[in-house]
Amino acid sequence: MGSNTVTDQVWPRTADWAGGELRLGGLGVRELAAEFATPVYVLDEDDFRARCAAWMGAFPDGDVHYGGKAFLAPAVVGWLRELGLSLDVCSGGELAVARRGGMPAERVVFHGNNKSVAEIRDAVRWGIGCIVLDSFQELERVADIARAFGVRQAVMIRVKPGVDADTHASWATGGENTKFGLSMASGEAAEAVRRVLAEPALDLVGLHSHIGSQIFDLDSFATAAHRMVGFLREVEKENGVTIGKLDLGGGLGVPYLPGEKTAPTPAELAEVLGAVVPPDMRIALEPGRSVVGPTTVAVYEVGTVKGRFISVDGGMSDNPRPATYGAAYTAVVASRASDAAPETFTIVGKHCETGDILVDGVDLPGDVRPGDLLAIPCSGAYQRSAASNYNLLPRPPVVAVRDGAARTIVRRETEEDLLRLYV
Ligand code: LLP
Repeated sequence: MGSNTVTDQVWPRTADWAGGELRLGGLGVRELAAEFATPVYVLDEDDFRARCAAWMGAFPDGDVHYGGKAFLAPAVVGWLRELGLSLDVCSGGELAVARRGGMPAERVVFHGNNKSVAEIRDAVRWGIGCIVLDSFQELERVADIARAFGVRQAVMIRVKPGVDADTHASWATGGENTKFGLSMASGEAAEAVRRVLAEPALDLVGLHSHIGSQIFDLDSFATAAHRMVGFLREVEKENGVTIGKLDLGGGLGVPYLPGEKTAPTPAELAEVLGAVVPPDMRIALEPGRSVVGPTTVAVYEVGTVKGRFISVDGGMSDNPRPATYGAAYTAVVASRASDAAPETFTIVGKHCETGDILVDGVDLPGDVRPGDLLAIPCSGAYQRSAASNYNLLPRPPVVAVRDGAARTIVRRETEEDLLRLYV
């Protein structure tokens, strides 16, 4: 155990090992756990900002919409606003957080395959920058609502580019066999373009596609971009209009394990897309995981060690990804150094099922014991945002660290919060 343990690509920028413990943002995990208790998500704000800057730098003439579904909080919205990013939301709840965080309405894009009438109304009334239409019914709904408010609503159309990206089946969204968008191949998408152009209450500002999430293969992005460019030119020609903007979604992957292949950078993606998308077409992207995933470390306290099972004070409620997708993680003993010979352990949570596993096999010092703090890196995306109250566990807080200071950006839920729901 030593400094090299936390310099691997899976750890955030400011992670280091000093005084016999893991430090994040210049703060030791022992102090963080003492102040904020465990489990806790510790977010490296410098790392988050650097990742945003890398995206903005890679697409200086485009739009970078952060995919809020990965993790959203008003503080995060503030950073995005300050750094020039826009925001992609997919529910009324995310929209409310965007608003609370002070994101200007025109920098917010609203996604989803079944936005409710109430959500659409709220978004249009707020003056949302763009709504991504996902079906013919929604096209009508948004047009009716825009008309009722007397506005012309900017929209994009979500297109199925027919690209089956190499990723988990749950996260592949670019093929024909997905609930999202309208098919390019069947002519549905072209029909949607005609209908939007014929609707005075709607302003078609672009076309959208999203091929999936946790994708490492840049060729899939290139193929989707190629098809979308061809389609966009085709419908421009057919209808005698200029559409001009191509939103190619999110999806760039990140490594979760030490030694796993490195992820392509935003600059590499920009280079690949630059070769396919003509310079007069504005590119938009929606990175979520690649911005926030690696910024955050989940810190748990060991409660019991029984054979190969280490039980910690959280579990599948704060990180459903291993149980849901078989997602793999690593962990270290973060609160002390140890010379004990490593043994292979399974880190489990405190929930009432055998599948409540956080890390299925990781080498840790054989003397790991109750009271030790375990740190699991790459815990920023789709963990706090997908956390539940299963077994009525309160959801953990998110603490942002920077330059030796820590502040809570999402507070810990309390039993009082849980009880408040019961009638
Ligand atoms: N844009 C759209 C339309 C999306 O559906 C998504 C993610 C993104 C952008 C952001 O994608 P990212 O850059 O984060 O890959 N719960 C799963 C991931 C679901 C992804 C949902 N859509 C997980 O835990 O891995």
